[in-house]
Amino acid sequence: MAEKVILAYSGGLDTSVAIKWIEERYGMEVVTLTADVGNERDVETVQQRALSTGAKKALIVDAKDLFVKYFIFPALQADALYEGQYPLATALSRPLIAKLLADAAAEEGATAVAHGCTGKGNDQVRIDVGMMSLAPHLKIIAPAREWGMTREETMEYAAKHNIPVPTTVRSPYSTDENLWGRSIECGILEDPWAEPPEEIYAWTRSAKEAPDAARYVEITFDQGVPVGLDGERLDGVTLIRRLHGIAGEHGVGRVDHVENRLVGIKSREVYEAPAATVLLKAHLALQALVLSKEQQRFKERVAQAYADLIYNGLWFSSYHQDLAAYVQSSQRHVSGEVRVRLHKGTATVVGRKSPKSLYDYSLATYDKGDLFDQSASIGFIHIWGLPLKIQAKTQLLQQPEGPLGITGSKQP
Ligand code: ARG
Repeated sequence: MAEKVILAYSGGLDTSVAIKWIEERYGMEVVTLTADVGNERDVETVQQRALSTGAKKALIVDAKDLFVKYFIFPALQADALYEGQYPLATALSRPLIAKLLADAAAEEGATAVAHGCTGKGNDQVRIDVGMMSLAPHLKIIAPAREWGMTREETMEYAAKHNIPVPTTVRSPYSTDENLWGRSIECGILEDPWAEPPEEIYAWTRSAKEAPDAARYVEITFDQGVPVGLDGERLDGVTLIRRLHGIAGEHGVGRVDHVENRLVGIKSREVYEAPAATVLLKAHLALQALVLSKEQQRFKERVAQAYADLIYNGLWFSSYHQDLAAYVQSSQRHVSGEVRVRLHKGTATVVGRKSPKSLYDYSLATYDKGDLFDQSASIGFIHIWGLPLKIQAKTQLLQQPEGPLGITGSKQP
């Protein structure tokens, strides 16, 4: 009996060709697995295409709730934003796909898994490393990394084998989308000087086309997790989708970034992430109200490490578990509401409140009711500035180069 392989199947050209190619090259029986992570497509058509291309079985998994609960919201609680720009939509879906592949392989008695990633990107690393942690006994096949065919040759292969080619193949862009965002690469975008043409955007209006009137949204958080929009309690998937529509309409969430890939290349990436952009900003604003200064400072460092580990495919690691434990602990008072104004491509936090707020009006105010003891500042500053006073006297005031030893940049 032929060995079985579970192929992560998107319905696109490469994974369709991969069904036939694996059969030919490896003589294996292909079972496809399509994970619905909110990438609005007709899963039945995708399933049909897999079967008519030669798959023995075509599995469809609705993974939207899992994706939100175990990947998107934990990343939001961590404020994960790669290089301060990319909300990690594609990156977050990869470990989930690895997990679904491992589960399907166990259920179907497969000896291998396969995916359509090329050898140049981050996605191959994320899926392969995910498999290495979850099911190290499985063989990994990555046809697009192995076959050495150009795009043209792949299309010829498809034509020769009567593989139905999806209509999107004619586009010069490579895109990936899910609930948290949309990634766009290739074509004219490979010139980092070229402005992204309007045609690449599918989820956001341009600021110019966005309504003149601002729209306000109110987001309710419970321990760092968004649970309500404009006063209505919503499940995660519905909340993200609804906010996505509203923010996209106002042109919010476009990102144009030259990014450092794990495999060592810089790559120009454009993203659309309307809901993620608003939620990440709102979450930070609420944290600013309820976390102490030290908690905030340390959390910023954790956020960067967390974003890097997601980007670099280390989701199923003890390192992640350790950071996640810190993040969870940090969220216990991050409950409350944030008001955001959406207008012409901008999302601006304009209000925040929480029962656990550390903001104390009687200390902050310059009006009546001020309880801050200004006389106490004198002693505080005396001690705080003491080391500088000593240093100035013994070192800085002694230096010949310039006033207080501060040498400016040399002028030509
Ligand atoms: N640069 C982004 C990342 O590494 C987006 C990748 C898009 N992937 C794709 N298969 N089109 O996460």
